[in-house]
Amino acid sequence: MPQKQLKTMGQQQKRRSWAEPWKIKMVEPIKMTTPEERKKAIADAGYNTFLLKSADVYIDLLTDSGTSAMSDRQWAGMMLGDEAYAGSVNFYRLEKTVQEHYTYKHLVPTHQGRGAEHLISQAAIKEGQIVPGNMYFTTTRLHQEMAGGKFVDVIIDEAHDPQNTHPFKGNIDLQKLEDLIKTNGAEKIAYVSLAGTVNMAGGQPVSMENVKALRQLCDKYGVKLYLDATRMVENSYFIQQREKGYADKPVAAILKEFCSYTDGAWMSGKKDHLVNIGGWVAVNDEDLFDQLRNMVVIYEGLHTYGGMAGRDMEAMAIGIEESVQDDYIRARIGQVQYLGELLTNWNIPIVQPVGGHAIFVDAKRFYAHLPQDKFPSQTLAAELYLDSGIRAMERGVVSAGRDPETGNHRYPKLELTRLTIPRRVYTEAHMDVVAEAVKSIYDNRKKAKGLKMVYEPKYLRFFQARFEPLA
Ligand code: F0G
Repeated sequence: MPQKQLKTMGQQQKRRSWAEPWKIKMVEPIKMTTPEERKKAIADAGYNTFLLKSADVYIDLLTDSGTSAMSDRQWAGMMLGDEAYAGSVNFYRLEKTVQEHYTYKHLVPTHQGRGAEHLISQAAIKEGQIVPGNMYFTTTRLHQEMAGGKFVDVIIDEAHDPQNTHPFKGNIDLQKLEDLIKTNGAEKIAYVSLAGTVNMAGGQPVSMENVKALRQLCDKYGVKLYLDATRMVENSYFIQQREKGYADKPVAAILKEFCSYTDGAWMSGKKDHLVNIGGWVAVNDEDLFDQLRNMVVIYEGLHTYGGMAGRDMEAMAIGIEESVQDDYIRARIGQVQYLGELLTNWNIPIVQPVGGHAIFVDAKRFYAHLPQDKFPSQTLAAELYLDSGIRAMERGVVSAGRDPETGNHRYPKLELTRLTIPRRVYTEAHMDVVAEAVKSIYDNRKKAKGLKMVYEPKYLRFFQARFEPLA
């Protein structure tokens, strides 16, 4: 929404400001670098922002994962860590908190999200089965493939169009899903993999109406429905703001209702839970729980800690309770939307509507002269760092990787650079600096020449690939 319009709306008292429901007690100094230092740092990093040293970064928008600021309550909770190998007090507190807010009966803790993805993929996918879902996520799809599954995208078409302003671009296309089930037979479907919000589509939410209909469709064919709950609190806020009948419901109640339509979930606690490490998988089914609880001891740790310290589980339990407060989530997403409004005012192409955890710059339109195999999103992230020391992340052809069958690059429709906002970390003034930096590289966009990949690891290449500038 243009700033002018917002101002007018503000005058009419339609839109109130979103100040944070906290004040600052401790600060962490950050360093500004010179252009020469940045030139050297990004070259040393092979033009991949994942390979930069954090000490060389000014404003770090690489990810919202594990980058949250914990509250004084959470830090106090760390001192209550019960570091017993088995049966830690903090595990039972976490179990109770997840049951209360996410509804699932059985909890298996893991060291982070992908630990949980590993367990559920191995337990619930048989060789040759299909896993339909609302757009891929990098680690999720890889674990599904490594378990013998084939991910099939059944998200609505609108999700692939950065300019389409559908309010729930994370929705599953029920017709696409039903056709897939009918063509292959229900026994060929491992489960439906539903993420709320959808990271790769721009942090876009799924509506309550969609998950309800999905539940019915899954019941009709006897297919399980599992949720990637990583940013499900943020998803619930969008339901409150956009979906008919939910405006007066607390986010906590919306979260519970949504989860109640699914059979289980996996979680990267590093996002919504406001902690720096941890995850879990939780299900209702006894047999599946039994398998997960048995597997966790092989890969993560005993089933009452799963790779987390007791203190981590305590901080997570407190973080869950803080994260479902309406005033918290309103300020969190309010800050993301503020940055989105600044960029929109300057006509910088970003994914619309603005999602929950990040601004996704549309690198295809930003660098309209660069074809996808010159890595426009990667180029944008490198240019932004060079301009101002701000670190962003590629979410385009590099992240999409290669097709395991053909070995060719996958060319996703969305070629995006993600400016991810950590929770409770930066101020509105930092957002102003970010917007100005993006504007500055946008003004110089014609000069960008693109990159070539000179080193490519086999798995999740975006993390470690190296590039060189094209002449
Ligand atoms: N699912 C989603 C939707 C995610 O965004 C992530 C991580 C994971 C699962 C895996 O969790 O990192 O704890 O192992 N996303 C991070 C990001 C890395 O930057 O978007 P993890």
